[in-house]
Amino acid sequence: MPSVFIETYGCQMNVSDSELMLGTLAAEGYTATDAPEGADVVLLNTCAIREHAETRVIGRLTELRRFLKRDAVLGVTGCMAQRLGPRLLESDSRVSLVIGPDGYRALPTLIEGARRGERMTATDFDLEEHYEDVQASRFDGVKAWIPVQRGCDYRCTYCIVPFTRGSERSRQLEDVVRETEAVVAKGLTEVVLLGQTVNSYHDGARDFADLLRAVGAVPGLRRLRFTSPHPNDFSDPVIAAMAEVDTVCEHVHLPMQSGSSRTLKRMLRRYTREQYFDCVHRLRAAIPGLGLTTDIIVGFPGETDEDFHETLSAVREVGFDDAFMFKFSAREGTPATRLPAEMTVPDDVVDARFNELLQTVRGIARDRNFRRVGERCEVLVEKEARKGELLQCRSRDFKTVLIPGDKAQIGHYYVVELTGTTGSTFTGQVVRERAPLPMAGSTGP
Ligand code: 5AD
Ligand code: SF4
Repeated sequence: MPSVFIETYGCQMNVSDSELMLGTLAAEGYTATDAPEGADVVLLNTCAIREHAETRVIGRLTELRRFLKRDAVLGVTGCMAQRLGPRLLESDSRVSLVIGPDGYRALPTLIEGARRGERMTATDFDLEEHYEDVQASRFDGVKAWIPVQRGCDYRCTYCIVPFTRGSERSRQLEDVVRETEAVVAKGLTEVVLLGQTVNSYHDGARDFADLLRAVGAVPGLRRLRFTSPHPNDFSDPVIAAMAEVDTVCEHVHLPMQSGSSRTLKRMLRRYTREQYFDCVHRLRAAIPGLGLTTDIIVGFPGETDEDFHETLSAVREVGFDDAFMFKFSAREGTPATRLPAEMTVPDDVVDARFNELLQTVRGIARDRNFRRVGERCEVLVEKEARKGELLQCRSRDFKTVLIPGDKAQIGHYYVVELTGTTGSTFTGQVVRERAPLPMAGSTGP
C-alpha cells in the first residue's frame, strides 16, 4: 500500500483540509505515515497569510530533498499553492503537484499522473466543493474540526485569503449536523465549527444562530466552539443562541486587528473602534464569564503613533485574555500593497510597537489570570503536556490548565481547582471527575 505524509502549516481550516486529503487518499488504499523519510507521497499543506509562512515552506522544500525517496511524489497544496500556482513548479524542480484548496478531490488521479512523470497544477475554484462525501481522517481523538463554510466575501485590504480560498459558501445545516453526530458516535465530545467568517454562515435558509442551536443539541456533544467570527456578524439571534445553548463554550476569538478607527477604515474592516467595543459589550452582557481573545496587526501602512496608542488603549479597555499579534506583511495583489510607499511603517518602528503591544497584552492577561487562582472550573483533558508527567487541559473559557495524571485520562472531564498560574497557563488539582453523560449542566462545577 502506498504511504503518504502530510505536513500542515497555517490555520485550523488547513488542519481540517489535511484531514480531508488524508481521508480521500485512505479511501484509495493509502496509509498515513508520520515522517517524510520513506513516504511514497509527501504533501506540504501550506499557508500564505504572511511572507514568513511562505519562506518556511520554501526552506522545508529544500530540506526535504535530503529525505525523500527517489521516486516519491512531492506536492504543495493549500493557500500558497493557490497563490503561486505554476510558479512553484518553475521554482522547484522536485515539486510535481500544486493543488489549491478546492482541488483535493482529484488528489488520487493527480498523484497517479505525477507517478508517470507529469507535473501538474490544479488551482481552479469550485464554489460547489464541500468535500461532502469525503470521510475525514481525523488527527485528534478528543475534538473534531468541522468546516461549515469555505472562502471569504470580506475584502480586508491586507488579506490574501479571498484570493486563495475564493468566495464564501456554506454547507447545508443537515450535513453539518450529520457530521457532528458521526464524530460524537466515535467518542469525540467537542466540536469546533470552522469558517473564515464563521458567523456569517448561511445555507440559504438557516443562519449561524440556527446552526449553533442544531449542532449544539446533538446528543452526546459536550462542547461546541467556533472560529473565527467577524464582529459585524454577531447578530442578536446569534448571541442569544450562544447564551442559550448549553454546549456552546464561553469563549470567543474576536479579531480586532486595530483599535484605531482610521486604521480600521483603511483595513476595510467595516467597523469602528466603538462598534467593536459595542460587540464585546453585547457578548459579555449575554454570556457571563466569557473568555475573549483576539488578533492584532501592527504596522499597517499609515499607522501613526496615535493610531498605535489607540490599539494599546483598546487592548486595555477590552481586557483580552490573550491575543495573537502580527507585524503587517505585504501580500502581493492585496489592496494594501497599492497604498502609497511613503505610508509604509519603517521596520524599527514596527518592531518597537510590536514589543510594546506584546508587553501590554501579556501584562493584562497575567493580571486577569492571577485573579482566577483558587477558582474552580470544568476542564477537558486534551493531551499529554510537553513536560513532566502532566496533562494539558482546556477550560470552557479556553484557558490552558496543566494537571497531574496519565494519558488514560485524555478525553475525560474534571472539575479542577486552579492552583497557580505562570501568567499565561494554569496548574490545577482535580476536585472530582465529571459524569460522562448526560451532562449535569453546562458551565460551572
Ligand atoms: N499581515 C499580517 N497579519 C495578517 N493577518 C492576516 N493578513 C495579514 C497580513 N497581511 C492576520 C490577521 C488575521 C490573522 C489570521 O492573521 O490578524 O486575523
Ligand atoms: Fe488559513 Fe489563511 Fe493561511 Fe490559508 S492563508 S492557511 S486560510 S490562515
